[in-house]
Amino acid sequence: MRKTCRPSRFVADVTKKVPPSGIRRYFDLASEIDDVISLGVGEPDFVTPWHIREACIHSLECGETSYTSNYGLLELREEISGFFTDKFTTTYDPKSEILVTSGVSEALDLAIRAITNPGDEIIIPQPSYVAYTPSVMFAGGVPVPADTCLENEFKLHAEDLEDVITEKTKALILNYPNNPTGATMGRKDLEAIADVVAEHDIMVISDEVYDCLTYNGKHTCFASLDGMKDRTILLNGFSKAYAMTGFRMAYALAPREIIASMMLIHQYSMLCAPILAQIGAIEALRNGTREMERMVRDYDRRRNLIVSGLNRIGLDCFVPTGAFYAFPSVESTGLTSEEFAERLLFEQKVVTIPGNVFGKAGDGFLRCSYATSREEIEKALARLEEFVEGL
Ligand SMILES: Cc1ncc(COP(=O)(O)O)c(C=O)c1O
Repeated sequence: MRKTCRPSRFVADVTKKVPPSGIRRYFDLASEIDDVISLGVGEPDFVTPWHIREACIHSLECGETSYTSNYGLLELREEISGFFTDKFTTTYDPKSEILVTSGVSEALDLAIRAITNPGDEIIIPQPSYVAYTPSVMFAGGVPVPADTCLENEFKLHAEDLEDVITEKTKALILNYPNNPTGATMGRKDLEAIADVVAEHDIMVISDEVYDCLTYNGKHTCFASLDGMKDRTILLNGFSKAYAMTGFRMAYALAPREIIASMMLIHQYSMLCAPILAQIGAIEALRNGTREMERMVRDYDRRRNLIVSGLNRIGLDCFVPTGAFYAFPSVESTGLTSEEFAERLLFEQKVVTIPGNVFGKAGDGFLRCSYATSREEIEKALARLEEFVEGL
């Protein structure tokens, strides 16, 4: 008789330390309830613009079904390089400073793994996107939170960054426009951060996947600040701006030594991003601006609708200036974020995400995504109002 196998014995310790995403739990709960309105998902409700889908269909008809260069199609890297030169006057060499990846998710994992030695500390401003902390842990690094707060409109302040820097600090992850708060940081705010990272000689991973969704003024690309290009691994992609989440298409821009290190991991784990998605991305960059701007105008109108609705109901909400999230406080109700989100779901069938899922600094807040139709937002606001009145 052969020895019986206990599969759990083989599971790596690190995966036992990382809790499952708190967001998923709300979707699982919601899937068992009828007539639910979701302000939960961080995904555009638009379908990918037709001209992008058509370019992909055409490429399939032409039989373009092979692997590409590990770096991604040169044609796409050239488009990305041109796009950055035009938009931010920051130039990246398409041959050595650009890596095409399967989503910002992959680019983030590669960036962290490419620079992290065991025990290195990576600073994560919180509340933060849920993947940052686990990605650092999977890479053997130590995630270090740097709290941001409502009083500072959830911007990272230089002093708060200084407070958590140690000799072991390797990098800082920035994410502006921000998920979950909707905060943005302007040039002056970022210059103060640039001074600190240069002073302490640390790297920055800047996730700018929401850069197109900036409603007040122009987005500042962190790498475009004086002296920051060599210190920044810039991540961006197509999921949010062009409603292309299912394409899994993104890229990293960084100094050649870092791209070479990321490429090594990518080459052996992913080989290359799917060619079909890369063709869609080329079309998006060449001809997608008008459609993208139309979607952004629509998000902007929804932003005004949801923020004024939440404030009217008595859930104080600062005005988010980017991404597609509102982050109201639920403190006035006397409930915790989790109590509020759970009761709202069971009593009024509206999905929101409690702020503590994004780190302790998110306690007392609720993430409401407005990447959903105006009709749904209006219905959700009416249910929210009834819920708050009934407390
Ligand atoms: C801040 C942030 N970064 C990265 C991602 C993942 O993007 P992608 O679809 O390109 O993997 C998301 C998705 O919600 C996000 O909010």
